[in-house]
Amino acid sequence: MRILLLTHAFNSLTQRLGAELQQRGHEISIEFDIADSVAEEAVALFRPDLIVAPYLRRAIPESIWSRHVCLVVHPGIVGDRGPSALDWALQEGAAEWGVTVLQAEAEMDAGPVWATASFAMRAAKKSSIYRNEVTRAAVTAVLAAVGKFAAGDKPTPLADRPDARGRLRPLMKQADRAIDWQRDDSATVLRKINAADGFPGVADHLFGVPCRIFDAWPEASLAGVSPVGAGRVIGRRETAVLRRTRDGAVWIGHARREDGFKLPVSLAFPVETAELAEVPLAAWWRIEQATWQDIAWEESGGVGFLHFEFYNGAMSTAQCRRLREALAWAKTRPVKVIVLAGGSDFWSNGIHLNVIEQAGSPADESWHNINAMDDLALELIESGRQITIAALAGNAGAGGCFLARAADFVWAREGVMLNPHYKNMGNLYGSEYWTYLLPRRVGEQRARDIMRNRQPLTARAAVDIGFSDACLAGDADAFRIDVARRALEIAAAADLNDRLAAKRERRAKDEAEKPLAAYREEELAQMRRNFYGFDPSYHVARHHFVRKSLASWTPRHLARHRDLGWTVPA
Ligand code: COA
Repeated sequence: MRILLLTHAFNSLTQRLGAELQQRGHEISIEFDIADSVAEEAVALFRPDLIVAPYLRRAIPESIWSRHVCLVVHPGIVGDRGPSALDWALQEGAAEWGVTVLQAEAEMDAGPVWATASFAMRAAKKSSIYRNEVTRAAVTAVLAAVGKFAAGDKPTPLADRPDARGRLRPLMKQADRAIDWQRDDSATVLRKINAADGFPGVADHLFGVPCRIFDAWPEASLAGVSPVGAGRVIGRRETAVLRRTRDGAVWIGHARREDGFKLPVSLAFPVETAELAEVPLAAWWRIEQATWQDIAWEESGGVGFLHFEFYNGAMSTAQCRRLREALAWAKTRPVKVIVLAGGSDFWSNGIHLNVIEQAGSPADESWHNINAMDDLALELIESGRQITIAALAGNAGAGGCFLARAADFVWAREGVMLNPHYKNMGNLYGSEYWTYLLPRRVGEQRARDIMRNRQPLTARAAVDIGFSDACLAGDADAFRIDVARRALEIAAAADLNDRLAAKRERRAKDEAEKPLAAYREEELAQMRRNFYGFDPSYHVARHHFVRKSLASWTPRHLARHRDLGWTVPA
C-alpha cells in the first residue's frame, strides 16, 4: 500500500513506524502537519491508500478524514482522550497503560478503534516511556491496524468496546503539575517532574527565578531526613543541583528559564550554582545507591561496562572530556573487553547543540565540542589492549553513531533507531573520524548514500547494510543480559589474544596507509567552514533545533511525493 505518514515531526516514533512499514513492503512518504492546505496537497500528490498519523498536535482536517482512512496513534488506553494522556497516567501512577490506534473523525481521539496494545508502566520520565513502551506498543498496534485495513476489516466504535476503560482528560495545566516543596515527598516530586519530561517541564523557581525544571534523579543518602529546609537547593554535582524535599532530596539536572531554552542547571544559572557546595561521589565510577551519577563503571569476569547517562544523549565539551578520561582509565583496568553501555534512552546524539547555542561564541564552542568528541573517538579507536563494544540500549544520532562505530563492535537493541548522518543539521559535514570508520564498514558508495539520503535505520537494517554487527533482544533487561553474556564469551575465548593482535596489526596497517590525524584534519577543515565560513546554515539550523521552531515545510528527502520526478499515481 501507499501509506502517507502525517506527523508533527519526524520524531523517533515516526521514524520507527515508517521503517517498520517500509520493511513490510509498503511505500511510505511523509508530510509534516503544517497547515490543512499543505496536508491536502500531500494527499493529492501521493494518493495514499491509507494515512497514518503517529504524532499530531491538532486534528486532521475533515477534507481529509472524510475521504481517506486516517489511523491516529493515541498514547492512551481504549477510551482515553485528550492531549495529556501519558502525563496523567504517569502523574496518577497508573500501573498499566497502552496505545490505541483510532480512525480520525470529527471528535479528536473518539473515532472507532482499529487496534490497541498495552504495557506495564515504569517509574520513569515521560519521554523515556514514549521512546520505549509507547513506541513498542505503537508499532504492534499500527501493524495490526494496517493488517486489518488491508484485509478489509472495519474498526469497532468506541461505545462497543468492552475494554474502553479510559475517559476524556483535559490538557494538564501547570497548576496540576505544581510542586509543593513543603508538602510533597521525594517520590511525589520525582513523579511530577517525570510526568512533564522532556516537555513541558514543571513550572517552578530556582534561586528565586521562574523556570521550568526537568531531569529529576533520586538521592538515597538523604531519605528520611527532617522536613526542615524543604525546598532549599543545598549543593551541586557537575551540572546538576540537589534540592531538599519534605523527606529527603532530589537532583535536578536541567532547567529552562522563561525566555530561554533547556540547559543543564549549571549553565542556566551559572552564577548561582557556582556558589553551591560540591557534593562529590565517594568514587566517580562506583554505583552505590540512587543518586546523580552520569558516568559509572562496573567490571566482572574480565569485562568492564562504562555507563554514560547524558540527558538526551547530547555530549558537551566537558562531558566528552570527562568520558574520555574515564575511558582512558578503563583501558588501564584488568579487563579484556570494554562495553560502552551509554545511557538507557540514548547512546549518544553527538555534540551538545543547546550548550553550543548558549555559548558566547557558538562557533568556538562547536569547535571545542567537536574536538573533544574526536579525542574521545580517538581514545576508543586506539585501544589495542581490549576488544571494545558499543552496546546501544538507546538511540544514537549523528556523531553519536560514529562514536559507536569507533568501537570494534556495535550491538544495538532491537527497537533502537540510528541516524548515522549529519546533513540535517544545516549541512554539517561531520567528524568523529567517520571518513575512516564508515567506508571501511559499508564501502565508499554506500557511505556516500547513507550520508546523502539521511534516512533513519532500524537496529536490524543497520546490521543488514553492515553499519552495525548485531541486533539483540528488544527488552531492556534482556538486552543487558545478552550483551554481558556475549562480552564475557569474547573475554573468555581462547583466541582472544590472537584477536587483539589482529586488531593491532590492522590498525597499524591502516595508520601506515593514511594516519588518523589526516582523516581528522580533512574532516575538521570542512567543519571549520561549517562553523566559521560564509554559509550560516549550521548556525541557523541549530538555532531552530534548540528553540524547537515549527517546521515550515517537509524536508524533500522525506516527502517523496514532492520529488521533482514524482508523478501522481493513477
Ligand atoms: N544536542 C542537544 N540536544 C539534543 C541533541 C543534541 N545533539 N540531540 C537531541 N537533542 C534533544 C532534543 O532537542 C530533544 O529535546 P527535548 O528533551 O527538549 O525534547 C531530545 O534530545 C530528544 O530529541 P528528539 O529529536 O525528540 O529525539 P528523537 O529520538 O526523536 O530523534 C535525532 C533523534 C538524533 C534524529 C534528533 O534528536 C537529532 O536530529 N538530533 C541532533 C543530532 C545532531 O545533529 N547532532 C549534532 C551533530 S554531531
